[in-house]
Amino acid sequence: MNRLTFTHAAAVAAFLGIMTISACSDVTTDLKAPVYKTSIREDETRMSAFKNDFPDEYASYQKNNEDEVMTEYKGSVAYRKNDNVNPLPKGFRYAQPYLKNLWLGYPFSFEYNEARGHTYAVEDFVNIDRINRYGADGKGLLPTTCINCKTPKMMTWHKEYGDKLWSMDANTFRGKDKISAADESINCANCHNPVTMELRLYSEPLKDWLKRSNQDWDKLSRNEKRSLVCAQCHVEYYFTHKDNGPAAKPVFPWDEGMDPEDMYRYYTGHGAKDASGKPGPFVDWAHAASGVGMIKMQHPEYETFIDGPHGAAGVSCADCHMQYQRAGGKKISSHWMTSPLKDAEMRACRQCHADKTADFLRGRVLYTQKKTYDQLIRAEALSVRAHEAVRLARDYAGARSPGYEELMRQAREMVRKGQLFWDYVSAENSVGFHNPAKALDTLMTSAECSRKAVDLAMEATMFGIGPSLAGDIEKIVPPILEHSRKLMQSPEHLQSHPWLKLLKPFPPAPQVWDGQTRIISGAPAK
Ligand code: HEC
Ligand code: HEC
Ligand code: HEC
Ligand code: HEC
Repeated sequence: MNRLTFTHAAAVAAFLGIMTISACSDVTTDLKAPVYKTSIREDETRMSAFKNDFPDEYASYQKNNEDEVMTEYKGSVAYRKNDNVNPLPKGFRYAQPYLKNLWLGYPFSFEYNEARGHTYAVEDFVNIDRINRYGADGKGLLPTTCINCKTPKMMTWHKEYGDKLWSMDANTFRGKDKISAADESINCANCHNPVTMELRLYSEPLKDWLKRSNQDWDKLSRNEKRSLVCAQCHVEYYFTHKDNGPAAKPVFPWDEGMDPEDMYRYYTGHGAKDASGKPGPFVDWAHAASGVGMIKMQHPEYETFIDGPHGAAGVSCADCHMQYQRAGGKKISSHWMTSPLKDAEMRACRQCHADKTADFLRGRVLYTQKKTYDQLIRAEALSVRAHEAVRLARDYAGARSPGYEELMRQAREMVRKGQLFWDYVSAENSVGFHNPAKALDTLMTSAECSRKAVDLAMEATMFGIGPSLAGDIEKIVPPILEHSRKLMQSPEHLQSHPWLKLLKPFPPAPQVWDGQTRIISGAPAK
């Protein structure tokens, strides 16, 4: 028997001869996952339909509703990540005050919250200020692609509309008549074939990637599947530009590799086609202060983890986020997919690291997270300085270097790259733990690029912008703590910060949506 094909990574750890697994009587070494024969419909998307057959997994999945426990850096409280306006949970010290500045001109600048459990995904989607609530036409101003990672209903809709689905208005699928927030949020059908309960993919972009990279789901190992079901959503993606395929279809930018440098290279193409018919750089939006065409990174957990200490050793996402447990005398996988640090005993880790205490293991996680957070905050501030330098140099009326245009082209590229690298770590949800070396290396490159952008902008203006950039960045460009779609309608608000002044106010408009409810057009806002 080939021991490397052992499916549970505790077995991998034992194979490596580094740990005892004496406390692991609950750990399976089965090569095959259990297969069932249920009478659940093959196209089922409601969680409740699985309750009778699998009461234990179902009950454990309901724990994803827990949304009050914080850990040092993460946890399940959906606080605003940038600010002290909507107060951070008591005692929490790790806000990222510059988020709204860095995403200015993009809906992410309106609201960005800490993630909580899977059972909230639809509710949090319909309530986030990134999706539009205002204006009599009731348009969401976001494509349906944005719902892709929130519900198995995407399978039903994709069957109905095909690739036209992606660019349809997100509000088409928002109401209670379209989706049940409680029963059709991310659930069993996103990861399991309802009839056999084998792991399966619902995600079109991941299926596309497997095809592009010549991989066959049915031939992958059980252990790879125990991570890839998560990689359906916990990954970086972008929406196809209409010049290059079905508009707004989600794609994983992995063709050059999964590191930030690979993605940065990938994104030098795949945008709108130019006159010669070649696709130009991909951009998510133009930054409102610097005008630079930016990329927004989204939660690259899988890409970060895959070559970290655990990913490289064959440990899977499920090993740490779905530990084995006992329920009614049976061994099951915990379906409470949350922070392993919420368990005082750190049992998920000690399935393998049985020779270590919970305190030691927790200490190792926090050690990495502190180093990562400290550098993240520095890289973030440097990115703000880089935008400001390019803005000042663009508007500079004094004498310019003869190489001004080329220096500015390079400066813009360095702003774009610096922020992409910062966001790769910022949007990744483990604060460095999934891959400590990659996190710090990426932040180092981010800082280097942002500094370079400042240098180039200085040179382009023959150091004329120097005095305006001297000193503490928090004084030159203070953090924007408050901003929202509603505030975009307020000219006074847009006068309250030097960068907000650069935005054009939205026309006054009534609120037409409240969560999943369409308030009658023109009715007073609730
Ligand atoms: C070796 C164990 C381990 C593995 C393997 C692992 N994680 Fe994690 N993960 C952690 C730890 C520890 C944290 C930090 C939790 C905290 O700070 O509270 C974390 C954090 C997270 C978070 C944020 C949790 C929160 O509270 O907001 C997400 C999401 C996540 N991991 C997803 C994944 C995915 C997806 C994979 C596989 C691609 C994966 N993890 C692999 C240990 C692991
Ligand atoms: C995000 C993906 C995901 C979701 C959502 C999910 N599961 Fe699972 N489930 C898994 C993984 C991964 C395993 C482990 C499979 C393996 O080890 O081969 C698993 C295992 C199982 C098993 C096999 C026995 C066990 O406990 O290991 C059953 C039964 C099961 N899940 C039922 C459910 C039910 C019921 C729901 C919905 C309430 C659900 N799952 C939701 C990923 C998921
Ligand atoms: C269908 C898409 C999807 C799949 C598949 C998926 N996730 Fe998630 N995950 C999300 C979304 C969306 C959120 C945030 C939900 C919210 O905040 O409302 C989330 C949140 C989380 C969190 C944070 C929970 C907390 O309590 O803070 C963890 C941890 C996590 N996922 C781990 C996993 C793991 C491990 C897997 C694979 C076994 C997985 N996810 C599969 C979309 C997905
Ligand atoms: C399924 C088995 C398994 C689980 C679960 C697991 N680990 Fe590991 N861990 C390993 C293996 C294998 C290695 C790599 C071999 C080595 O470095 O000795 C490792 C390495 C480590 C290292 C050294 C990392 C480095 O940079 O070299 C730390 C720290 C660690 N694990 C902490 C944790 C924590 C904390 C958890 C729970 C959140 C956890 N592990 C869960 C198997 C596991």
